[in-house]
Amino acid sequence: MLTTPVCRLLGIDAPVVCAAFGPWEEVDLAAAVCRAGGLGSLGTAVRPLADLKEQWARLRQLTDRPFAINHTTRPLNEEAFQATIEERPTAISFHLAVPPDLITRAHDAGILWIQLVTDLRQADEALRAGADVLVAQGGEAGGHGGDVGTMVMVPDVVDLADDVPVLAAGGIADGRGLAAALALGAQGVLMGTRFLASAEMNVSQAWKHRIVESAAGDAVKVVNSERILPPFNRPGSVGVPRCLRTPLLDALREHPDQVDPEEIVPRVMAAIRAGGGEEYLPFTGQSAALVHEVLPAGEIVRRTVREAEAALAAAAHAIGR
Ligand SMILES: Cc1cc2nc3c(=O)[nH]c(=O)nc-3n(C[C@H](O)[C@H](O)[C@H](O)COP(=O)(O)O)c2cc1C
Repeated sequence: MLTTPVCRLLGIDAPVVCAAFGPWEEVDLAAAVCRAGGLGSLGTAVRPLADLKEQWARLRQLTDRPFAINHTTRPLNEEAFQATIEERPTAISFHLAVPPDLITRAHDAGILWIQLVTDLRQADEALRAGADVLVAQGGEAGGHGGDVGTMVMVPDVVDLADDVPVLAAGGIADGRGLAAALALGAQGVLMGTRFLASAEMNVSQAWKHRIVESAAGDAVKVVNSERILPPFNRPGSVGVPRCLRTPLLDALREHPDQVDPEEIVPRVMAAIRAGGGEEYLPFTGQSAALVHEVLPAGEIVRRTVREAEAALAAAAHAIGR
């Protein structure tokens, strides 16, 4: 099987990481990805600690393979972070800012640090703070991100990172994307949108089918998201979400003053906490264009690797090797 040095570092077989999906529950998905040899992740956003602990215990019952627990700064929940340190997953992944103090705490507990970065300044900060793996995420990505595209982000970060492994993210949904990432100097990929439309992911069929039906241009940046989403609570936080269009997104863009946070936020948060919310904020990336069917997650991992091997062989053939 196609493997790279980051696989050894993380204790996985295939250089494929499944994204964390914030508040959406993904224990079965993470287990399926881990079983197929990739790295599964669990999100933590806006969930009570008791829920998170139950998810961690359930994942450990389903697999004894490595996985990551994710935190972000929208907002960072210190209690959940401390519990994560005590839980000792193989890795903590972190998004929206670089927190040197938290990286030190993870390392002191023997936990690897995977830092998502969306620009070169963040990459530089992450390297200085001792991140073990960087995820160079282009603006095509679903969820929060920046503007620079993956094609520029990845080699730019690889050049800076020296011997720290880089994974590519944003707009990658198949083995051609993995092959391209390797050609750009990355050691693997992190995929979100592709795994969101997997059989095991615990979101509605309606959301998955919208992903299957969507073109790249249907996944748009959420203008004025600060009116409805929790505030960032760490310095240096950046990121604007990308979602499939909804009436709420259109209203936020066209007449934000008419979106009343006191009325809408409790409704959106209640829907998301109940596992839905796709009628308001269906976080999704441009790679929806490349997702043509809902697939079992293990099959996604295996196909991605198989297709990458074929794409790399075809490229070698094209130059006469
Ligand atoms: C529904 C959804 C929720 C997300 N939540 C998080 C999160 O809580 N933490 C995080 O680091 N990234 C989050 N992301 C971003 C993903 O981790 C990943 O970087 C991104 O999806 C990669 O781009 P892609 O969607 O083009 O594959 C989320 C993405 C989606 C689609």
